[in-house]
Amino acid sequence: MTLFIHTLRHYFYNNLCTRLFWWRTKQSHGVYDIVSLGNISPPRIVPQYVTLPSYAETGEVFDEPDYNSPPEIKSGGQILMMRQSCKLAKFVLDSTRSLMKVGITTDEIDQFAHNLIIDNNAYPSPLNYKGFLKSICTSINNVVCHGIPDDRPLQNGDIISVDVSVYLNGFHGDCAATYCIGEVDKYGKKLLSIAEQCMYSGISVCEPGRSFSDIGKAIEMHAIKNDHRVVSCITGHGIGTYFHGPPTIFHTTLNKFSGVMKPGMIFTVEPVIVQGTENVEFLDDGWSIVTADDSRGAQFEHTILITDTGYEILTL
Ligand code: MF3
Ligand code: CO
Repeated sequence: MTLFIHTLRHYFYNNLCTRLFWWRTKQSHGVYDIVSLGNISPPRIVPQYVTLPSYAETGEVFDEPDYNSPPEIKSGGQILMMRQSCKLAKFVLDSTRSLMKVGITTDEIDQFAHNLIIDNNAYPSPLNYKGFLKSICTSINNVVCHGIPDDRPLQNGDIISVDVSVYLNGFHGDCAATYCIGEVDKYGKKLLSIAEQCMYSGISVCEPGRSFSDIGKAIEMHAIKNDHRVVSCITGHGIGTYFHGPPTIFHTTLNKFSGVMKPGMIFTVEPVIVQGTENVEFLDDGWSIVTADDSRGAQFEHTILITDTGYEILTL
């Protein structure tokens, strides 16, 4: 009898907790579509006259600097080249904004960005990078980054992050933003504004002599204060003639990366902010990163230069 009452009490208690938790989850994360994988179109063609990065033909990346090597200090000439590629990446990202409507597929957005990049004599950096199949990344709702454009049409209420990277005259530029499609619920809108603020709070601490780890501290503090979380495994990176290199930019407080910023360093700040827990997993395509609890994520990204007195956003 005692056991029975105990079991019964246990049953009700657990059930109540589950329901309460379910209610809370649904209430605080909003109403949206949970994304599943679609069909990917054949690879897009890059004309002969476009200069290719080393991995373009084989998909193998062999010439990125070691992550433990000191971050490169760019020369004046290299900085001028980086300004151009970053400016183009931002121009393409901004140009995709006009396509962000219900019914368009992410494949069509990819086609548009691909053509625009090539029209500007550049190569879309993600294309065949470690075998990535498309020219940009499009990540919807619970997909937090590295989504592969496919035949899924955008739906009313989606949030979509678009990540554009270009290789122009031997240098990469990289930026991303998250957009609303149609009417997005208030939790989604809040996520977007906090994610953008988090990126800027990370950037705002950048200056010569500052430790890289201060970026993650600023970002995570802002996220937690606003009841959101940062996905710690998604990091920013040095960038130049290579797509990814040192320094690794951690977006959370607990990180092992030591070192200080110096004038001439160029790297990205690109935190992924989520509504729920920070745990993430891969979808079966081996690329799309989704939240384990299906909550939504948003990402904003800039490439920045450390100047003599502070920083300059190159993808502005
Ligand atoms: N901006 C993204 C990043 O730095 C671009 C990834 S391209 C991919 O992670 F090919 F690796 F997906
Ligand atoms: Co990046």
